[in-house]
Amino acid sequence: MRSLTTVLSLLCSLYTLSTSAQTACNGHPELCTRQYSNITSIGTHDSAFVGLLPQDNQDVSVPDQLDAGIRFLQAQTHKDFLGTLSLCHTSCLEKDAGPLSSYLSTVKTWLDANPNEVVTILLVNGDNVNISMFDDAYTFSGLKTYAYTPPTSSLALSAWPTLQEMISAGTRLVAFLDTGAAPSVPYILDEFTYFFETPYDTTDPTFPECTINRPPGLTTADGRMYIVNHFLDLDLDGIDIPDDVADNTTNAATGVGSIGAQADVCIGLYGRAPWGVLVDYFDQGDVFTAQNALNGLS
Ligand SMILES: *[C@@H]1O[C@H](CO)[C@@H](O)[C@H](O)[C@H]1NC(C)=O
Ligand SMILES: *[C@@H]1O[C@H](CO)[C@@H](O)[C@H](O)[C@H]1NC(C)=O
Ligand SMILES: *[C@@H]1O[C@H](CO)[C@@H](O)[C@H](O)[C@H]1NC(C)=O
Repeated sequence: MRSLTTVLSLLCSLYTLSTSAQTACNGHPELCTRQYSNITSIGTHDSAFVGLLPQDNQDVSVPDQLDAGIRFLQAQTHKDFLGTLSLCHTSCLEKDAGPLSSYLSTVKTWLDANPNEVVTILLVNGDNVNISMFDDAYTFSGLKTYAYTPPTSSLALSAWPTLQEMISAGTRLVAFLDTGAAPSVPYILDEFTYFFETPYDTTDPTFPECTINRPPGLTTADGRMYIVNHFLDLDLDGIDIPDDVADNTTNAATGVGSIGAQADVCIGLYGRAPWGVLVDYFDQGDVFTAQNALNGLS
């Protein structure tokens, strides 16, 4: 009897040891067994445009965004005057945050140093360039070595691997492109095969809606993850500029204009949480409380 108790208590302490030593995935052990398609991430809208000018959207660098816990990066590309694919806002005259390959290199360096993290990059192909230019940037930066390639050309929501499976396989980078993806580059995934997006250019600070805005003509949420555009614009006589002063309430977990309130509208419509919520100046407000709540984590 005594030996049985000893064995049991030994098993108990082994169990405690193994769970406490359990590896976290994207900061939370609970996320390891969750499918990629079933996790909500706050994303940095225009992650490369760092500064305080109207054409900027964030105030810390991409590595600092990742260090803070951001796992979903969105960025806009255009060709600069030399023809290099670069992170530019509307045009490279307005804001040029440097070559895409440099941006991707910083993410590669960060993934090298953080082996239990899965990161998603969503790029906008602003000049509608050939997919080969994106392939070149991913290849040159080395980030391609981490890229996840689905086993079939269009993966069902229920077929995505878990974070732990992606980490174990070393495929911890998921690359999406809004237009121009092609089967010739199978690791750069077509955004709108996998997602729909809610409207952007929102100027109503209560964010009252969660309608399907893109892809055009889509009428059902079924089968796709979805991205909520949760950044507020100020309408200045017909010209929209980011409403940065409001970011601390826009990016809140609760209350009017908050992430949680808009996500509730979405969940009411679609029965599941957004996969991604894009915000400006993610560090104003309290985005991670909202993210954890949507993931059922405290
Ligand atoms: C992109 O370029 C490749 C060769 O460089 C070509 O085969 C392909 O058709 C081009 N794709 C588009 C969509 O123009
Ligand atoms: C948000 O920031 C503005 C401008 O700095 C400030 O006036 C306001 O009190 C802040 N609101 C909250 C909820 O922190
Ligand atoms: C993940 O699945 C749970 C359980 O079905 C659901 O409540 C939640 O909204 C899902 N989250 C996402 C991002 O799909």
